[in-house]
Amino acid sequence: MKLIDGRKVSEEIYQSLKIEVDKIKSAGGKVPHLAAVLVGNNPASQTYVNAKVKACEQVGFGSTLVKLDESISEIELLAAIQKLNDNTEIDGFIVQLPLPKQINENKVTQAILPQKDVDGFHPTNLGRMVLNLPSYLPATPFGIVKLLEAYEIDTAGKHCVVIGRSHIVGSPMSILLARNSNPGNCTVTLCHSRTQNLSHYTQQADIIIVALGKPYFLKKEMIKEGVVVIDVGISRVESSSTKSGFKLAGDADFDDIAEKCSYITPVPGGVGPMTIASLMFNTLLANRKEIYKD
Ligand code: GUN
Repeated sequence: MKLIDGRKVSEEIYQSLKIEVDKIKSAGGKVPHLAAVLVGNNPASQTYVNAKVKACEQVGFGSTLVKLDESISEIELLAAIQKLNDNTEIDGFIVQLPLPKQINENKVTQAILPQKDVDGFHPTNLGRMVLNLPSYLPATPFGIVKLLEAYEIDTAGKHCVVIGRSHIVGSPMSILLARNSNPGNCTVTLCHSRTQNLSHYTQQADIIIVALGKPYFLKKEMIKEGVVVIDVGISRVESSSTKSGFKLAGDADFDDIAEKCSYITPVPGGVGPMTIASLMFNTLLANRKEIYKD
């Protein structure tokens, strides 16, 4: 079994981004600038957004944090997005999800200029991804593709089972790995909450990407020998072995399955660090107008 070290790969991406920032600075150019919109007080969202701002500092990008009240109306949020669309200082921005109940997430996603949509959630970017055209790729699936690349894991012709069909991870992941590209060219099965006899699919899989948010869900009876397991889950579970009384758990039961896997991502330290590194990478692309050249 080989451990896929997301911290190491993300660190390499940060190093290369820093080099790019230095080049931009010495050429007298404008450094990449990311804005993040945080609505309300969701603790997980606060943690993620703070980590994104910190990553900007680490690589030398500019950053702007827009904090808005939980009770903000949809119209007010759309106006804040319009301001970011119009602000030429900002290359790309994200609106952290989930949003409060009074706000329609689809409307928000569609209000972001595709050229600045570094999360890759706008229908234009998702459509371009499906067509294999240049687009911003959603950060978590993009990070997973980069991990498969970094560890030279062969994907062509392999059976990949994706568990979970969220708009952020499962659905784009299934599309990316089925594309005619490398990594890609997989035969993909997308499983979800209504899938019957899930083990029937997972037992055949060469690669399993599990993103359903249920700690320790994937067990050894469900997988075949030599499978590659990419664990996107990150849940806080009670633990008697930590000071805080909590620890982070993935969707795979790591201790149960690890020895049956050829490769596996740990939680924490696997997919998580890659998500933010990919967002930083997309922000550099936005700064360079790499995706939308005209
Ligand atoms: N919430 C959970 N993951 C993400 C993400 O990648 N981007 C945004 N904007 N919100 C999220």
